Amino acid sequence: MNELVSLCKRRGFIFQSSEIYGGINGFWDYGPLGVELKRAIKEHWWNTMVRMRDDVVGQDATIISHPEVWRASGHVDNFTDPMVDCRKCKLRWRADQMEDVKKCKEGGEHDLTAPQQFNLMFKTYVGASEDNAALAFLRPETCQAIFANFKQIQTTSRQRIPFGIAQQGKAFRNEVNPKNFIFRSREFEQMEMEFFCHPSESMKWLEYWKEERFNWYVGMGIQKEKLRLRQQDAKELAHYAKGAYDVEYEFPFGWQELEGIAHRGAWDLTRHGEFSKKDLAYFDDQTRERFIPEVIEPSAGVDRTLMTLLVDAYEVEQIVDEETKKSEDRVVLRLSPIVAPVQAAVFPLSKKLADKVKPIEKSLRRDFRTDYDDAGAIGRRYRRQDEAGTPFCITFDFESEKDGAVTIRDRDTMEQVRVKVEDIGATLRQKIDSWKRVPTAGATLGAKRLSE
Ligand code: GAP
Repeated sequence: MNELVSLCKRRGFIFQSSEIYGGINGFWDYGPLGVELKRAIKEHWWNTMVRMRDDVVGQDATIISHPEVWRASGHVDNFTDPMVDCRKCKLRWRADQMEDVKKCKEGGEHDLTAPQQFNLMFKTYVGASEDNAALAFLRPETCQAIFANFKQIQTTSRQRIPFGIAQQGKAFRNEVNPKNFIFRSREFEQMEMEFFCHPSESMKWLEYWKEERFNWYVGMGIQKEKLRLRQQDAKELAHYAKGAYDVEYEFPFGWQELEGIAHRGAWDLTRHGEFSKKDLAYFDDQTRERFIPEVIEPSAGVDRTLMTLLVDAYEVEQIVDEETKKSEDRVVLRLSPIVAPVQAAVFPLSKKLADKVKPIEKSLRRDFRTDYDDAGAIGRRYRRQDEAGTPFCITFDFESEKDGAVTIRDRDTMEQVRVKVEDIGATLRQKIDSWKRVPTAGATLGAKRLSE
């Protein structure tokens, strides 16, 4: 992980929030490359889950909602982790993650408090007075606003069951022990969809969504053998859940959850109906049946998906430099072009050609995420783009002035093809659409995977 974390910082993907003040534990900022990657992931999810479907609509609700939402959902009473403090080391631990609750993880002398339940919701106050009447919470998950808005959205969108409501956005959890880079942080983003269905069909939809969601990760080029779907056993299930699967990835620190696909039954709508005293039942005007729909929820983390993509894409391989003939390490992020922060980088072979090349790069911006670079030797420029995960580099050389063609170099195979300037857009589109993960490049002498 250290190699990846340092690449992220060096190239401005991700770094500690408020770094100039020493950082703040559990909070991370995304730089220029990181924010493009993050936006591309969210866009890809939204396209897959909302725009490409007839049976899912979107919403964007506020981070702070009526505090009753969190009473109805059970978060005020139950969204807790058991916490212990070590009086000697002044460190705080999650009791359920300690090997021995009598021993501080740091070893040495220890003096632990008894475990106390600690509510993970961040509190704030709405308006000028800081009393209990004004107490509000930053949402710890995005989905509750979907349940609260169910009736409103179902009516205005004229959707019939089965259908889903999707939402992306920030969530906040005052985690006792944020860890593993952006894997567990205190401010993060979720991509959630609540699929409302008839109780008699809910198990069928659970099976459907677990497959869809697993394939979404495979479709982004994440190695299938590093992914698995794990069914939660009875002990792990939330008390209202009728079943759940986790999509897991094998990180350098073990198999961990990326997304949960849960059968939430009718729990949330029933509770919000009770607390709001509004009728949240659905009336089927064809069967004349009135019922509380059951819900299948695929709930994914943006940051965890992003971290998975980076871990999975990171490779260091030895190649022979074409110019110096020396062998050297090539750091390459084999990101899918669907999400790569830069899809195509455009270079003039020499700065003298800059005026001819800049308009080409500008014209590609409408359809692709692009970058322009004319600094340093061409080999160095390729390396910089390899590290940033750019799948295609386009070079305009002195020959281009005569034949009106450029070279497109493939990051993974390092093969180069000559293409007419007017065909660059169509060629890139075809290459992006047909991209498949190749394990290692042709010129590799010996590749090392980060997770090995
Ligand atoms: N609405 C259901 C729900 O929130 P969850 O398993 O607590 O379920 C769903 O969270 C997803 O949100 C997780 O699979 C993970 O990807 C992401 N997530 C949860 N807590 C996180 C944290 N502290 N940091 C980063 N991502 C987190």
